[in-house]
Amino acid sequence: MENKVVAPAENGLMKKIVSHAKEYGFVFPSSEIYDGLQAVYDYGQMGVELKNNIKTVWYKAMTQLNDNIVGIDASIFMHPLTWKASGHIDGFSDPMIDNKDSKKRYRADVLVEERAAQMEAAGQKAEADALVKKLARLLEANDLKGVQDLITNEKITCPVSGTANWTEVRQFNLMFSTQVGSVAEDASTIYLRPETAQGIFVNFLNVQKSGRMKIPFGIAQIGKAFRNEIVARQFTFRMREFEQMEMQFFIRPGTEMEWYNKWKETRLNWHKALGLPASKLKFHDHEKLAHYANAAVDIEFEFPFGFKEMEGIHSRTDFDLANHQELSKKKQQYFDNDIDETTGKPYGNYVPYVVETSVGADRCFLAVLCNAYTEEVTGEGENHKERVYLKLHPTLAPIKAAILPITKKDGLPEKAMEIYNELKYDIKVTYEDKDSIGKRYTRNDLIGTPFCIAVDHQTLEDNTVTIRHRDTMEQERVAISELRLKIRKETSWRTILEKV
Ligand code: GAP
Repeated sequence: MENKVVAPAENGLMKKIVSHAKEYGFVFPSSEIYDGLQAVYDYGQMGVELKNNIKTVWYKAMTQLNDNIVGIDASIFMHPLTWKASGHIDGFSDPMIDNKDSKKRYRADVLVEERAAQMEAAGQKAEADALVKKLARLLEANDLKGVQDLITNEKITCPVSGTANWTEVRQFNLMFSTQVGSVAEDASTIYLRPETAQGIFVNFLNVQKSGRMKIPFGIAQIGKAFRNEIVARQFTFRMREFEQMEMQFFIRPGTEMEWYNKWKETRLNWHKALGLPASKLKFHDHEKLAHYANAAVDIEFEFPFGFKEMEGIHSRTDFDLANHQELSKKKQQYFDNDIDETTGKPYGNYVPYVVETSVGADRCFLAVLCNAYTEEVTGEGENHKERVYLKLHPTLAPIKAAILPITKKDGLPEKAMEIYNELKYDIKVTYEDKDSIGKRYTRNDLIGTPFCIAVDHQTLEDNTVTIRHRDTMEQERVAISELRLKIRKETSWRTILEKV
């Protein structure tokens, strides 16, 4: 029997989320009028707000909740030797295989993993586990011929052509390169950074000295990264241009497991604080460690296409700083004048170890969006109602409150505008007066607005409004003078940060 790999895009719920994201201004395919660019996406008017809120919560959790973590914003282009030192030039590659009939390229390891997932779904758990273990051993040994044999033995075929007419498995470097310099002869190859971390490593001493930082301390950064991914699908899960939120925590050698465990726990709490349920989050220890790590774990989220990596936590030892020290010939050392109790002397000079937390802003966005997407059915018979809404944490919602006059006359729009103009300096609010109030509630449910504020005739008499709550659809009467405080309280950064 031949085993056809089922493309995860066939997943029904995921399809609905992708079209919801497009229809309501969250995510658009890049350059869509030219039929798009594979694995590149643009964030729309709602998406950018949601993504910015996620990034802000991360940045605040790092730099406001920890007085020993500071932020930087390093450039995307870096000296090419950076990538030699980091190991990306020699080791940042995926095993790829082409199907000669469809001319499609695949990651060889992903083809095997998907075969294992099929086996597991068919009740062959032990066989699936054995296959995954075998794959890990072959990858560890860089045995590409072995991986190829696995694909042949498992009779894995191309999902497009349906044939097993494969090329051999080859390593494919994932970095994008380009040229700097105005004349071709002067040009030298540089890379679009494949991770933001190296911008932190090369600035380690700049920050430490200028900020008089004492170990342990961290440097946090949010920024774009680029990878020429071979398998580019599952919407924004795997993109060629994406954003990372990374923090390098510089520590004394020998203390890495203590910090690694602390950051594992802190980062899991952060995801829960965003409203992601504990049942959809889990740790996954790495079987095959990256070239820079001596311990590594992923935080996985259960997307509609299964549990997948959202964040990596890595104990990177002194791999990066030591290599930068060697290649740049500039010392990357720290003088630790704390007393070592075993010797009674200061710890002295050393190259610090690093524990890294690295989460994709886009994957986190996708997890939050998938988790928020809710289809609800209420009532029966004539009272049967269906609605779709985004159950976003109020602090993350793109719009916190919509100000809605129930009619376009009798001075209600003016009164509603007055409220809008009063709130807009502190809170992301919108004003809408088109269509029936019901339709406006629905539109706001679809983008996840937690509060709709209806301005009616009673408002003109007693300066009160109705707040309609998104999740329960319950309504309450509130004085206009209380609105600001009430909405701010429920949408403050604190509601998330105090749970981290
Ligand atoms: N500095 C370490 C590092 O880059 P990684 O596991 O390769 O580690 C960290 O990447 C995180 O970046 C991942 O957990 C994921 O959330 C995100 N990420 C990596 N590749 C991505 C891609 N092609 N598209 C979207 N996000 C990606």
